[in-house]
Amino acid sequence: MSILVTGGAGYIGSHTVKQLLQENYEVIVLDNFSSGREELLIGGEIIRGDLRNKKTLQEVFASYKIDAVIHFASLIQVGESYQNPQKYYQHNLLTSLNLLEVMLAHHVRKFIFSSSAAVYGEPQKIPIPEDHPLVPTNPYGQTKLFVEIILKDYARAYGLKFISLRYFNAAGADPEGKLGEMHEPETHLIPNILLTLLGQKKEFYLFGTDFPTPDGTAIRDYIHVTDLATAHVLAVKKLLAGEIQTDFINLGTTKGYSVLEVIREAEKITGLKLNYQRHPRRPGDVPILLASRERARQKLGWELHYSDLETIIQTAWAWHQKVATSLHR
Ligand SMILES: NC(=O)c1ccc[n+]([C@@H]2O[C@H](COP(=O)([O-])OP(=O)(O)OC[C@H]3O[C@@H](n4cnc5c(N)ncnc54)[C@H](O)[C@@H]3O)[C@@H](O)[C@H]2O)c1
Repeated sequence: MSILVTGGAGYIGSHTVKQLLQENYEVIVLDNFSSGREELLIGGEIIRGDLRNKKTLQEVFASYKIDAVIHFASLIQVGESYQNPQKYYQHNLLTSLNLLEVMLAHHVRKFIFSSSAAVYGEPQKIPIPEDHPLVPTNPYGQTKLFVEIILKDYARAYGLKFISLRYFNAAGADPEGKLGEMHEPETHLIPNILLTLLGQKKEFYLFGTDFPTPDGTAIRDYIHVTDLATAHVLAVKKLLAGEIQTDFINLGTTKGYSVLEVIREAEKITGLKLNYQRHPRRPGDVPILLASRERARQKLGWELHYSDLETIIQTAWAWHQKVATSLHR
């Protein structure tokens, strides 16, 4: 079976490509390398192209037999989406619309979408179940919700089969040390802590110390990227076997850690002390986000193997040290 992976040179995409190849799928990666990296691609057919270009997509679907599509490619910075919503709406919606149009024209009807916990907005219930109200608090989350709405309509009208995977906070790195997180700019908590400890970032800002949580800092649900990748392989299998027609599934652990807990664990693992500056909360940041993971367990048979905080930070630390060494060689 042959899978087209858009954004396969990115953080989560590259870990998923690795597992698909291990499971003997044929993999075609389509990426414009705007944030993806060549060094994160360890196999498969690689096409350098932009999803905003419909002609590129038409050529890809005309040239390859494709059984299913996993769509990672997206702009991903919540803060930037506040400042420049047009960029986000145009990019994230156009890329998804183009991809769906061309794949359906080529009779490819199996689709996995990288959605986000950002579709829920302020939680009314913790842990958050998939039937929670969808009220995103930023344009990035809105783009994910719009695509989900489009998927539902396309399923009804054109027979699209899809699974929308709503990730919570992806973290960690490939336990074999081949892949890891390399965002530029880096906006995620764990790499920012580790890059500061490595001396590659000058300062670490802790946003919000007055949340209604036990230590006053925000609690998030960190999910190891290798466990995330496994969920994609399981989802592809379910779609290809016809066992799931359409679904929305959270990918999280249900266990949360506060920012201070993450800092303490990072200090313990690295043996280094983090100096940080306290800053006010950022707009839209909520106190606690935790995923209900019952549906992922029931529908995908998804189990977690790497998503404890220690393994997440250990694998991320090994990766960042490796990148730092190779950069300074
Ligand atoms: N990282 C997280 O914690 C997280 C959480 C929730 C959802 N997500 C979603 O998961 C997906 C992957 O996230 P990531 O952290 O791996 O991001 P990433 O930036 O590492 O990967 C995105 C990839 O898409 C490619 N890309 C972007 N625009 C493109 C275009 N127009 N044409 C072709 N390729 C394009 C980039 O070059 C990159 O390789 C995104 O859709 C993101 O919104 C991520």
